Amino acid sequence: MAARWLSSGPVDDAGPKAPKVDTTVAHISRVYDYWLGGKDNFAVDRIAAERVIAAYPDIVRSARGNRVFLGRAVRYLVREAGVRQFLDIGTGLPAANNTHEVAQSAAPECRVVYVDNDPVVLSHAKALLASGPDGATAYVDADLRDPEAILAAASEVLDFSRPVAVMLVAILQHVSDQDDPYGIVARLVAEVPSGSYLGLSHPARDIEAAAMAEIADTMNELVAEKVTFRTQAEVLRFFDGLELVEPGVVPVPQWRPESDLEAASPTVMWGGVGRKS
Ligand SMILES: C[S@@+](CC[C@H](N)C(=O)[O-])C[C@H]1O[C@@H](n2cnc3c(N)ncnc32)[C@H](O)[C@@H]1O
Repeated sequence: MAARWLSSGPVDDAGPKAPKVDTTVAHISRVYDYWLGGKDNFAVDRIAAERVIAAYPDIVRSARGNRVFLGRAVRYLVREAGVRQFLDIGTGLPAANNTHEVAQSAAPECRVVYVDNDPVVLSHAKALLASGPDGATAYVDADLRDPEAILAAASEVLDFSRPVAVMLVAILQHVSDQDDPYGIVARLVAEVPSGSYLGLSHPARDIEAAAMAEIADTMNELVAEKVTFRTQAEVLRFFDGLELVEPGVVPVPQWRPESDLEAASPTVMWGGVGRKS
């Protein structure tokens, strides 16, 4: 099945229409791209990224470990949990092992809807939409704080009567407590049937606490998307009402690692996967 654009606004069937890109302020998608070794970033992004590296040099390994966690979680969900549909919110710029690539390499019929609100991610969405012929991919230009818009658009490609994995990998730190992150996650989980999953990772406030406090200050000063880092207990709350897959909410390299070396990688990210029964 062909890839699809599901957004109104700056996107039509032919692809994105010259999205407005602000190169005067750092954006998290591009800062994260820099940490991953990508080329889709501007001078302002590199300045912010380097300030964070100065506070915590292992941020680069932590970001890469988060990306590897995303891949492991998707592989687990396809191979062991039998999931064939993904709603990946906070997609980020295309990088190695995008969700549809990992999912469709394990089961070609997988359907993936990507969601992000960054115009630069939108401008790269074509690369995220290279679905294999047996599956489907789609891209929605929407904000996590508007879950109704996301669900309405995603339902054009995903069958919400069958299990869906809602992936919120390294995005919820951009939803402040005032914007009700727990209510948003609960709303998304309410819409998917039993046998569905929630997979998420989140920057920690209680790992490398001093460095993370400095990183939060730096990012809130320099990056457009403000951050709220959370403790393990606060991250666990996102899984309320769900059955946690072993080993629970842990530092992401310790979530079903494929080697001891992987498990020992430095991280400032909590992560886990939960099942809706
Ligand atoms: C750190 S990146 C994570 C990328 C990818 N999920 C990963 O872990 O490799 C966070 C992404 O979330 C997006 N994002 C941040 N706040 C958002 C919001 N309120 N709605 C939609 N996307 C958002 C950013 O544009 C960025 O692309």
